[in-house]
Amino acid sequence: MVARATPVEEVRLREYPHAGTGIHLNAASHGLVPVSGASESADFILRRNRPGGVTDAELGAIQRRSRSAVAELLGVPAADIALAPNTSYGVNVAVALVAQGPPGTIVLSEGEFPANVLPWKVLEAKGFRVDVVPSAPSGLPDEDAIVERLGTPDVRALAVSSVQFSTGFRMDLLRLGEACGRAGALFCVDAIQSLGVDPCAPAELGIDVLSAGGQKWLCSPWGSGFVYLREELRAGLTPPMVSWLGVRVRGDLGDMLQYRLDWHESARKFELASLGLQDYLGLARAVEILLEMGVDAVRRHVAVLHEPVLDWVTAARSVRLVTPTDGGRRAGIVSFVHPRTQDVAHALSEAGVVFAVREGAIRLSPHFYNTPKEMDGVVEILDTATR
Ligand SMILES: Cc1ncc(COP(=O)(O)O)c(C=O)c1O
Repeated sequence: MVARATPVEEVRLREYPHAGTGIHLNAASHGLVPVSGASESADFILRRNRPGGVTDAELGAIQRRSRSAVAELLGVPAADIALAPNTSYGVNVAVALVAQGPPGTIVLSEGEFPANVLPWKVLEAKGFRVDVVPSAPSGLPDEDAIVERLGTPDVRALAVSSVQFSTGFRMDLLRLGEACGRAGALFCVDAIQSLGVDPCAPAELGIDVLSAGGQKWLCSPWGSGFVYLREELRAGLTPPMVSWLGVRVRGDLGDMLQYRLDWHESARKFELASLGLQDYLGLARAVEILLEMGVDAVRRHVAVLHEPVLDWVTAARSVRLVTPTDGGRRAGIVSFVHPRTQDVAHALSEAGVVFAVREGAIRLSPHFYNTPKEMDGVVEILDTATR
């Protein structure tokens, strides 16, 4: 029997009893942490002060629970998941994979977040070329040009965000994955701006390496994240950062002085040690909550939250939507510019709205813990500020 998904509203009331203080529309910077996740983390930290409060077995169990929750979110085996402290770590693993092969071209898109650009630029010193495909005249990524570029010789990798941090543009990962497959290029995705609000199945999209920190749409503590690595890619790669838990340890931590480079077959090989386990408890719990509702339900809820703002943008002639008008090209972010963006931002902040200004645009990023009523309130503030 398939378990009934818990309605978004029920989870909001249970996990966010304080959500009414201010209007938090900033999941694209950091999401709100569910109260049950925060208390599990805090309890774990304090339990360790009691004799026997935390056992070695529990430490391993926390990591297994986090990997399993993330694996379920992505529809992949848990063995494909390595816990990692941030998105950047996974990007660096992808760079290490590419660096093993002959020099060639790395294709990026203009407007990528620096975490998905700087690690690639390091390869220039090894004879690789980093080719940043300019955005279309709309200011949005030019997928046609990216696909065309993938058709040129010697492309080794494509690295894109599933959703761009400033424009909110949602990439067509299936199309790009197919193009990478034809080109024999590694497909590397920074998924921090979509996981938790937009369903993603990397194995079905031809993604080779997917990385994400947990602090945004996954509503997890800072310092928690992971990287998905396709099985065939793992065996041939020595981890760029070697950790003592990346290898198999025989016995019960009682025989550690053999120093064997006997790597785990699973993606654990790439995990750093020791990790901030309290943060991975938070990650596990937060992802379990997303699974309880279903990410598709979250996506639909967030699309409804966008509506009043989109209607307002359409009605207000001086406002320009930066995020695509096509709903299929949006996930959780809605960005717009106004001739007096700073004044509008000031009015929102004064009214207790938490949001961000990115690349000159006001970026609103509501999540499942927000309500349509809050969004109506935001539109009233916007109306007054721009009148
Ligand atoms: C697209 C994107 N990638 C990565 C990051 C952050 O990278 P990291 O998790 O390594 O801090 C952000 C925002 O902070 C982002 O918007």
